[in-house]
Amino acid sequence: MKKYALVLAAGKGTRMKTEMPKCAYPLIRKPMIAYIVENIRNSHIIDETVVVVGHKREIIQEILGDTVKYAVQTEQLGTGHAVMVAEELISDLDGDTMILPGDMPLVDDIVIEKVFREHIDRRHDMTVMTTKIDDPSGYGRIIRNDSGYLDSIIEHHEATSGQRMIDEINTGMYVVKNRILFSALKRITNNNLKHEYYLTDIVNILKQDGYVIGTYALKESYKAMGVNDLYSLSIAEAKLRLKINKQHMINGVAMINPETITIGHNVIIEENVVIHPNTYITGNSVIKKGAQIGPNTEIHESSIGERVICRHSLVYNSIVHEDTTVGPFAHLRDGANIGAHNRIGNFVEVKKSSTGDNTKASHLAYIGDTTCGSHVNFGCGAVTVNYDGKQKYQTFIGDDVFIGCNVNLIAPIRIEDNSFIAAGSTLTQNVPKGSLAIARAYQVNKADYMMDRNGKDKVEK
Ligand code: UD1
Ligand code: CA
Repeated sequence: MKKYALVLAAGKGTRMKTEMPKCAYPLIRKPMIAYIVENIRNSHIIDETVVVVGHKREIIQEILGDTVKYAVQTEQLGTGHAVMVAEELISDLDGDTMILPGDMPLVDDIVIEKVFREHIDRRHDMTVMTTKIDDPSGYGRIIRNDSGYLDSIIEHHEATSGQRMIDEINTGMYVVKNRILFSALKRITNNNLKHEYYLTDIVNILKQDGYVIGTYALKESYKAMGVNDLYSLSIAEAKLRLKINKQHMINGVAMINPETITIGHNVIIEENVVIHPNTYITGNSVIKKGAQIGPNTEIHESSIGERVICRHSLVYNSIVHEDTTVGPFAHLRDGANIGAHNRIGNFVEVKKSSTGDNTKASHLAYIGDTTCGSHVNFGCGAVTVNYDGKQKYQTFIGDDVFIGCNVNLIAPIRIEDNSFIAAGSTLTQNVPKGSLAIARAYQVNKADYMMDRNGKDKVEK
């Protein structure tokens, strides 16, 4: 008996008032739909996941790739119709299917597992997850009979003012026996205000047929929040941020002004790390023991070594090894790999380049497409000139090289070990090991020049 998850993600998300399909919207730089599919996987109870796609389906399919199966809903005729189009893919009729809306990103693996288990253990034919919230407007309301059993679900705009007072809502998450799910769906109509096929209408049909419909009342109601517009997206993001930050703080990560700190779902932060305000750490980033990050720093898809200090800086797709200082105002990107005990300081950009240990670029430098050794000093204003307007070229710098201020290294070029480049040089040729390279015009001092120009009086004043 297979256990399926069916995620509904075909809708446009009209209330978002933008073009992107709603379920592709990111929370902390990760699409909503990716959280749902990841949490389904982590619940370890689902055998097969099917996602219903439709509006701009290529965007959703690019996010999820081949981790799930897809059913295509070409016209978005309602949630009931969305489930119907998946019929062929839910082949084990003896199994059960959990239906989840693609706009409920905060539901987690624990809830998914609990609801499914309860459905099986209590031998329900259908289980509806409900919750109570302060402001139920917009949600379907749970109508119970006098004995407290579920009677029906009424959509907000179909509800009477009395029914709108009910604060128990339909979360949009259900588990249903496959055998009865699709036969009930064939009997729903679009005879309602929105002219849509409402999935919620199967409750009435199954009840009339005498099936057992149970409810699972979720206590942590925020997890059931549906994201319908950009405001609710921001609320969901804030909730997620708080939850993630709390867990890191409990694990031994200090956060100064945590409400200004955003940490992605997949980030790993070791103990004894301090994170300062206005900092974003996202993607599959790792921050090792004793590091100090921020304020005003963005780190994405990067690994930060032990005791690194990274202030007011941007680090994307890069690696920084232990005891290095980054910033203020440094930018590491596209596979920068910075060695241990480096200093990448004020207004320094490093792109697609590596450095050995103990290398320093303290101020105003650009290092691009460069392989650089250990104990190298980049003076203020040093630039690897990697681009001629058409192509990018490589720079090689050995160990123990001193690069003076305002040096241009015109790539492709090799600077061998233990060499010294005089300040202000523009080099177009390789520099052999142990050499001094100077490539600048000689200085000429013309005596009494100003006297000749302006006359004796002015100069003497
Ligand atoms: C739905 C429920 C409502 C519940 C709420 C919980 C129905 C009729 N209503 O309302 O009772 O309280 O969720 O958040 O089910 N979708 C499709 N194809 C469609 C229509 C929708 O795939 O034709 C997808 C959407 O992309 C979305 C999900 O189904 O991810 C829910 O649709 P949405 O329009 O947001 O439903 P609600 O009005 O919020
Ligand atoms: Ca919704």
